[in-house]
Amino acid sequence: METSVAESFRNGIVLITGSTGFLGKVLTEKLLRSCPVKYVVMLVRSKKELNANQRVANIYKQKLFDRIRLEKPDFTKSIKVIEGNLEELSMGLSLNDFEWIVENVNFVFHCAATIKFNEPLDLASKINIQGTENLLALASKMKNLKGFVHVSTAYSHCPRNEIKEEYYKVPVTVTELKNKLIDNVPTSNIIENWPNTYTFTKAVTENVILTNENRLPISIFRPSIIGCTKSEPEPGWLENMNGPTGLVTGVMVGFLRTMPNIGSNITDMIPADYTVNALISVMWDTVNRHKQSNDVSLEAPKIYNYVSCVESPLSWGRYIREMHDQYYVAPPLQSMWYGFYIFYTNLIIGSILRFFLHRIPGAFMDLMLILSGKSPKMLRMYSKSEGMIDLLYEFSMRQWIFDNRNTRELWQSLSEDDKNEFRFSLKAFDWKSYIEAYYHGIRKHILNEDISNVEKALSKNYKLLRLHQLCVVLIILLIFHFCWMFIKYLF
Ligand SMILES: NC(=O)c1ccc[n+]([C@@H]2O[C@H](COP(=O)([O-])OP(=O)(O)OC[C@H]3O[C@@H](n4cnc5c(N)ncnc54)[C@H](OP(=O)(O)O)[C@@H]3O)[C@@H](O)[C@H]2O)c1
Repeated sequence: METSVAESFRNGIVLITGSTGFLGKVLTEKLLRSCPVKYVVMLVRSKKELNANQRVANIYKQKLFDRIRLEKPDFTKSIKVIEGNLEELSMGLSLNDFEWIVENVNFVFHCAATIKFNEPLDLASKINIQGTENLLALASKMKNLKGFVHVSTAYSHCPRNEIKEEYYKVPVTVTELKNKLIDNVPTSNIIENWPNTYTFTKAVTENVILTNENRLPISIFRPSIIGCTKSEPEPGWLENMNGPTGLVTGVMVGFLRTMPNIGSNITDMIPADYTVNALISVMWDTVNRHKQSNDVSLEAPKIYNYVSCVESPLSWGRYIREMHDQYYVAPPLQSMWYGFYIFYTNLIIGSILRFFLHRIPGAFMDLMLILSGKSPKMLRMYSKSEGMIDLLYEFSMRQWIFDNRNTRELWQSLSEDDKNEFRFSLKAFDWKSYIEAYYHGIRKHILNEDISNVEKALSKNYKLLRLHQLCVVLIILLIFHFCWMFIKYLF
């Protein structure tokens, strides 16, 4: 009989790359809380004068670990930190650490990546492609490896309209890519119809895994857009402003006032805790498949698309509308203006709206900052945020047809107990409560506002609304005035 998902990790040593990132943290917390692992090994690079141990010590203090701190107060005893950098030869591991990993590690979750859409191609290739090659080389030496799951993205082959759980061709092999980079071939000629270096390098990496000669017990997991947690360890946990979170936060505080009209399009969002449950279940499936059959190592590594659009599609329109409903209930106290937005479909109109709604107020606020002896920052912030919206444009305007049969079959194969402990099915997903948790998660974890300030925030928001209405009336009067002057001038 197959062991349960949690039991398959009993006394196991699990190596996680990217454990300081958004997904990696949720994965680490869940493994430590729900699985009887011996150690979770976090491969971490030193950064900003902090070494790996210091960085991890700061992570335990985060709210995400509040629940496990209560349930398993000595959870840190099951964490081992190893200093390493995917970009370096042998991943910058000391000889001792290298040997320890080779002797002991049983499971590898490869989450580390640069997820910046506009990362220079040579750096994106170094981290995402070369980094994975380095890790695969290390994994092939591991004496007791049971499973390896590589985290890719559902959009790795985004130039296609239909994305199945299959491998697709990429324009270059890794060797060709390296040569083109040495020859300084322009990025756009290399990545062809991929919209950015992130998805391109993720696509090339999938083929690196397919063609890897050391037939490892490996699978590829492709999540779509990872949002806040649905319920574990608490509803609404998130920590960065990536993707839709940045847009919503910008509108909530009255900073962003115009954006492309994406209302009826589907946004393929998935909760972070469900994503981690699916990822852990993929490891369980990978280990079982390889344990049960010797021939499986000759097959192409299995791919699992983890998307919401197949079973519970959510439109951007509904997401934005329901976020806004929460705004009326609990606006943020630190709003700089009343939260409103005007959609545009035409990019020229969009530029005009950006000029009037972002650039003019931004320049005015910068002037105020300069006059009060502070450094200007608003125009710079607008330029950065609009750049981010432009980078996301392709992903908010396009629709893909995804197939997720492997993921759905995996869900069906779980026992009832596992389904409860590692819930990830998105069938009939309750978006209403999720969006509510998302809004309050942004308020709590991104804007650092406690729900106790709501009364004060509502009162401030009412004044901002009145000020906003006054400005609208003044602008309409000004427009009438200029039209009147123009007509008088003509006749
Ligand atoms: N977030 C999403 O919506 C989403 C959607 C689909 C797929 N994914 C995939 O999920 C994975 C995790 O994404 P995320 O959102 O958690 O990203 P993230 O928050 O940016 O985390 C990236 C992680 O990778 C690590 N890393 C980057 N370069 C490294 C290097 N050279 N050596 C060692 N570690 C390095 C980072 O470490 P530092 O802390 O040292 O920088 C960080 O821990 C990625 O593979 C991504 O492609 C994410």
